[in-house]
Amino acid sequence: MKKIKTLQCIRCGKDHKLAETKYSCIACGGNLQVLYDYNLIKKRLNYEVLNDNPERSIWRYLDILPVANMKSVPPVQVGWTPLYRAEKLGAEAGVHNLYIKDDGRNPSASFKDRASAVVTARAVELKEKVMTTASTGNAASSLACLTGSLDMKTVIFVPETAPAPKVAQLLVFGATVIMVRGTYDDAFELCLKAGAEYGWYNRSTGINPFTREGKKTCAFEICEQLNWETPDKVFVPVGDGNIISGIWKGFVEFHRLGIIERLPQLVAVQAEGSDSVKRAFESGGDVQPVSGKTIADSISVSLPRDGLAAVMAIRDSEGFAISVTDAEILEAIPRLARGSNVFAEPAAAATYAGLCKAVREGTVKENESVVLLITGNGLKDIQSAMQSVGKPYVINPDMAELRELIADNDLAGPDDED
Ligand SMILES: Cc1ncc(COP(=O)(O)O)c(C=O)c1O
Ligand SMILES: [Zn+2]
Repeated sequence: MKKIKTLQCIRCGKDHKLAETKYSCIACGGNLQVLYDYNLIKKRLNYEVLNDNPERSIWRYLDILPVANMKSVPPVQVGWTPLYRAEKLGAEAGVHNLYIKDDGRNPSASFKDRASAVVTARAVELKEKVMTTASTGNAASSLACLTGSLDMKTVIFVPETAPAPKVAQLLVFGATVIMVRGTYDDAFELCLKAGAEYGWYNRSTGINPFTREGKKTCAFEICEQLNWETPDKVFVPVGDGNIISGIWKGFVEFHRLGIIERLPQLVAVQAEGSDSVKRAFESGGDVQPVSGKTIADSISVSLPRDGLAAVMAIRDSEGFAISVTDAEILEAIPRLARGSNVFAEPAAAATYAGLCKAVREGTVKENESVVLLITGNGLKDIQSAMQSVGKPYVINPDMAELRELIADNDLAGPDDED
């Protein structure tokens, strides 16, 4: 592919040829990033071309993705998710210019479809027969969804604790599901060994350099949907750190192509028990394992697989990291839903909890423009959502009983004014 110059190690800088490389750096084992011939791309992809492009999916950015053409692309719409102005929620949080990027609107209801679509297209080009991934849940359900109708087998490794709706998706789309008695990190190691032993193509976060490529498309969309204005801050939920590093790569590439003039600051939001990236960023040291314990299953990670890239993204964007408690995450689910009409799974709602905390601490000012990345739909984890709200009323189908209930609980609503 002429447009790709090199796959460069983010740790030691070693260059790798696309045709000879599938996963990590052969010198140090570090994660690779895809670098393009940006002068060539500049001729094909610019502000005018994008304005005239009717494609409403991640494939409007095909010129800067590691996929040769549209022949290998999964047949469902990935990306071009809505960006909403959330006035009520913004007022409640204390910022005037708040936006919600609703990535729960993707085919499998999470942001991960962006990565799975690109990696699947790449696998089709490579004529792979079996794909595998380890996942906290969403990357897996997304891969299962996007390979569902293809002539390709998908073998998934998830922790036994993965939420039932995500497991249901895996089974419905026809994946082979292996639930591992252990953590996501245990599932990751097992998947790695299985992939090597059976020659399966591995989509797992961190080792596969193409996931970041799919993820960067969300940053491109934010720029376009804000009419080429860069937001001041983007709040991103962080587990392995692949989403935040992908988002950063997207902004940097649009900047390098001259499509945007300014870069945003990225704010990494982590759960308190799963805050390895925050610790590494603040200490300046290596990414170290933590317990990974949090109700937000999607960001429950002991040792982040793309931690170094995440720390670099926060640092280079002059952003910061913030952690929130499980109680704050649960409380954020209904507040976000009632303030913006968007139902988020716990990891995604964490961004709102993080924003409220940042405003309280003075690290976000009321006149700044802020985007919250809502990375997964709330229906992905009903059990946690139900913990964050009250119970419904249950009555017999009887009008008298209903009247009593309404009177006792003052449910009639305000009287009409004359
Ligand atoms: C809904 C959701 N939010 C956030 C994340 C965190 O992404 P990353 O692990 O790349 O940091 C994930 C990853 O599984 C996710 O599914
Ligand atoms: Zn290296």
